[in-house]
Amino acid sequence: MRQKLIVGNWKMNGSLAANASLLSAIERGLSAPRCQVAVCVPAPYLAQCQQLLGNGVVAWGAQDVSAQAEGAYTGEVAAGMLQDFACRYVIVGHSERRTYHGESSDLVAKKAVQALASGLVPIVCVGETLAQREAGQTEQVVGEQLQALLAALAKDEISNLVIAYEPVWAIGTGRTATPEMAQQVHAFLRAQLAAANSEAAQQVAILYGGSMKPDNAQQLLAQADIDGGLIGGAALKAQDFLAIIAAAETN
Ligand code: PGA
Repeated sequence: MRQKLIVGNWKMNGSLAANASLLSAIERGLSAPRCQVAVCVPAPYLAQCQQLLGNGVVAWGAQDVSAQAEGAYTGEVAAGMLQDFACRYVIVGHSERRTYHGESSDLVAKKAVQALASGLVPIVCVGETLAQREAGQTEQVVGEQLQALLAALAKDEISNLVIAYEPVWAIGTGRTATPEMAQQVHAFLRAQLAAANSEAAQQVAILYGGSMKPDNAQQLLAQADIDGGLIGGAALKAQDFLAIIAAAETN
């Protein structure tokens, strides 16, 4: 059975002082969690995570990575640099990067390839906009996003992925997909993975993201193909993040 995975996506929030108190509150609330827990933080705070979380149960990671291994790419951060700070995860293709930075699915796939080459687990985000959902295009959109990724990977790399289904209209809006809506897309994504590698598809964690909160986490996480959550706003409050982790532990 797949173990649940709860990942905090801090986005562009935090400071040395605020992170220290948030991380210590999270660690105090977790002794031996029965699920995997991670925080994806702004790159300048990776060293702080390594120092504060180094011997604990909470893994850490970044929110983006370069599609290049090294060189003259001002402002970019390479996968090998993330590995230097003992990151386990890196988010790629978040809708905020696709929207504000024009990232295409092909670029996202290249970033995932770089992450895998450095031994990181890419958390690859897919999701449709409200207009696309209303036009009945959800499966087509997330299917194309996923296929661009799969086309760039070898078959045996698929089991090293994490996928996050994040409907764009649910991110930071307080609107959540119903558990049934989310499950339907998750099952579709797993079927696509299975068509590429059936064994790996059973191992890949498919996270839900988009206004997951303590009061809706339980029902979402109870769905057969929802293997965890990618949590934005609620990951910035230790109490809420811990409550979501507790919901994952009972599912
Ligand atoms: P949210 O963000 O939980 O604040 O909706 C989720 C995400 O963007 O990963």
